[in-house]
Amino acid sequence: MPLKRKIQELKKKREEVLKGGGDAAVEKQVAMGKMTARDRIISLLDKETFTEYDMFAEHEAKDFDMDKKTLAGDGVIIGTGSIYGASICIYAQDFTVAGGSLGNMHARKITKIMDHALKMKMPLIGINDSGGARIQEGVSSLAGYGEIFFRNTLSSGVIPQISVILGPCAGGAVYSPALTDFVFVVDKISKMFITGPEVIKTVLGEEISMEDLGGARVHSEITGNAHFYASSEAECIEQIKKLISFIPWSNLRKAKKFPPKEPSADYQIEDIVPGDPKQPYDVRNVIRAIVDDSDFFEVQELWAENMVIGFGRMGGETIGFVCNQPLVLAGVLDVDSSDKAARFIRFCDAFNIPIVTLVDLPGYLPGVDQEHAGVIRHGAKVLYAYSEATVQKMTVILRKAYGGGYIAMGSRHLRADFVFAWPGAEIAVMGPEGAANIIFRKEIASAEDPEKVRKQKIKEYKDKFANPYVAAAKGYIDSVIEPKETRKILLHAIEVSENKAVYLPKKKHGIPPF
Ligand code: HXC
Repeated sequence: MPLKRKIQELKKKREEVLKGGGDAAVEKQVAMGKMTARDRIISLLDKETFTEYDMFAEHEAKDFDMDKKTLAGDGVIIGTGSIYGASICIYAQDFTVAGGSLGNMHARKITKIMDHALKMKMPLIGINDSGGARIQEGVSSLAGYGEIFFRNTLSSGVIPQISVILGPCAGGAVYSPALTDFVFVVDKISKMFITGPEVIKTVLGEEISMEDLGGARVHSEITGNAHFYASSEAECIEQIKKLISFIPWSNLRKAKKFPPKEPSADYQIEDIVPGDPKQPYDVRNVIRAIVDDSDFFEVQELWAENMVIGFGRMGGETIGFVCNQPLVLAGVLDVDSSDKAARFIRFCDAFNIPIVTLVDLPGYLPGVDQEHAGVIRHGAKVLYAYSEATVQKMTVILRKAYGGGYIAMGSRHLRADFVFAWPGAEIAVMGPEGAANIIFRKEIASAEDPEKVRKQKIKEYKDKFANPYVAAAKGYIDSVIEPKETRKILLHAIEVSENKAVYLPKKKHGIPPF
């Protein structure tokens, strides 16, 4: 056969695969407000950069009439391309082909691109839209998931791994996203759960919709499984691109540097934090007042809102921000906010992203609920993550830093490289009211006018301890600075610590309080 005809044959074969699960299935997909797997990849990647592999892969299953079925690409598309010039590996499950279900070949394609990503040190993006383990292929499907989980774990901390949930992601399938660094969800489209509504009805007799069980809102606001929430697939794609622009390709690199930009004049740092330590404010405005172009990209915006985490740039370099949020629960550390901060610190540390911590908190949240929910174990994760992190660590105490909160939030004692405090900072074992009530209890009780004495004692305690100078005198704080000096001094700190090199004791691995 002449080459020309062979090329025609190739084109025909390609066209067949490009049809996915056929017109009817594609129409059903689009009617649900979903893009096709191929369109998702094309819209995410830089124009004409997608190169597909294993387009002609075929399953080898025989049972349940599978030998009579041809499944285009076996229900998953894999390949490489770029986003803003960054090379990435990608796979997208195609729900139009056997519900995107995962059989042996489908899993082999995914693990092939995962191996490639790890070997070539490229970020991996997985688009999930699947009915889960392909029922007809039995244990081969389960084995496939196991192979994926194993690779997710090996790649953890080496290459960034991103999961995009754009359809069902049920049963054990949810554990691949759970093992990755960032999970993106879209309103009404994403569904993640271990056991679906049918099983819950059978076993527990309870009726619940898929949306209420594991929809995008549930995972963004309640479980914290999702990191980015979008109202449409198009918005989600823009979010993924933005994330890729902030993070490095692997742990062997730094994130790409951008031209530095001054923050917007809309954020006047002196006017954001009220003098009264009980008055709330939005810490995100402090971040916007110090980052390039006032551009702050928040992670897990809707969950554990008393802790704000995310990326911004300073002097063009990506910085990870870990900040108490006085707007919610006075910015306390609790079970969820501890988990949120600890995981993010570990991501930044693994991928050479300097950490800036902004502190303003009354401590850990007291209460039976928190104690019984394991605030000891969860709170310890923050201590562990900061202590273990060897990347540059800079801390600014904006206002309150009481008790365990002072230690946990990137203190000198957990090896922050630089600790600065604003003049209104209060660093003490606890708030002045609580402290005075405890240490002067007898004096207050026996006074003729207990209220007057209480006020006196609170003032006495405040004058003595509720300021940054006691800590500064001991060298726990490097400098007391004016708010308007914050950006300049942080930029300087980032620059002079560029070549930081510290090493942890040699060990197989630590045992963090998971
Ligand atoms: C094989 C599957 C499939 C599966 C869907 N299909 N799920 N084929 N194995 N797991 C097929 C359907 O037969 C159908 O094929 C096509 O995909 C589209 O599915 P529909 O049911 O028509 O779509 P829809 O109504 O949108 O419902 C989607 C769904 C539902 C909610 C995901 O299909 C469903 O409940 N699927 C099963 C989910 C599940 O229980 N999976 C196993 C989880 S356990 P035709 O030919 O008719 O078009 C698991 C274990 C992993 O994953 C463990 C790892 C450790």
